[in-house]
Amino acid sequence: MENDVKEGGDRRNFLIKLTSVVGGAGVAAACVPFVSSMNPTSDVLAKAETEVDLSGIPPGGVHTVAWEGKPVFVLHRTPEEIAAAQASNGVIDPEPDAKRVKKPEWLIVIGVCTHMGCVPTKEGPGWTCHCHGSQYDDSGRVVRGPAPKNLEVPPYHFESDTKIIIGKA
Ligand code: FES
Repeated sequence: MENDVKEGGDRRNFLIKLTSVVGGAGVAAACVPFVSSMNPTSDVLAKAETEVDLSGIPPGGVHTVAWEGKPVFVLHRTPEEIAAAQASNGVIDPEPDAKRVKKPEWLIVIGVCTHMGCVPTKEGPGWTCHCHGSQYDDSGRVVRGPAPKNLEVPPYHFESDTKIIIGKA
């Protein structure tokens, strides 16, 4: 009788352990597709980096590309534009031009106004945001509000003299 009780207890303990192991494995297996679904798709990864061929952009020309769903302005600055950008530190959000470019001839900035997110247009020197009148210079620095900050510089690097990759510093 005592042996029956002991055997019953052993069997119960064994079943509890077996259930825990099987249950744990089931939860782990169920998590795999869920966790995988949180990884970015190859589509999204591809858009996380945008390659830009600079060879077709003449001095004074600006090329707009898409990166992570946002417009990015690539401006090939003329010697005069470089001189003007280097002569000032900006007004509202001061920052030296040298900190905003990797090569003086090339300015790369996200084309989203820092006031409320409109896309500024290139007009004469710099850009104008027609939503509320903000202006940015040829370093992408805000020179007239209401925008509070300079246009953001995205991470990028030069792959060669004529090619940049936006999305990776
Ligand atoms: Fe550009 Fe308001 S969104 S000035």
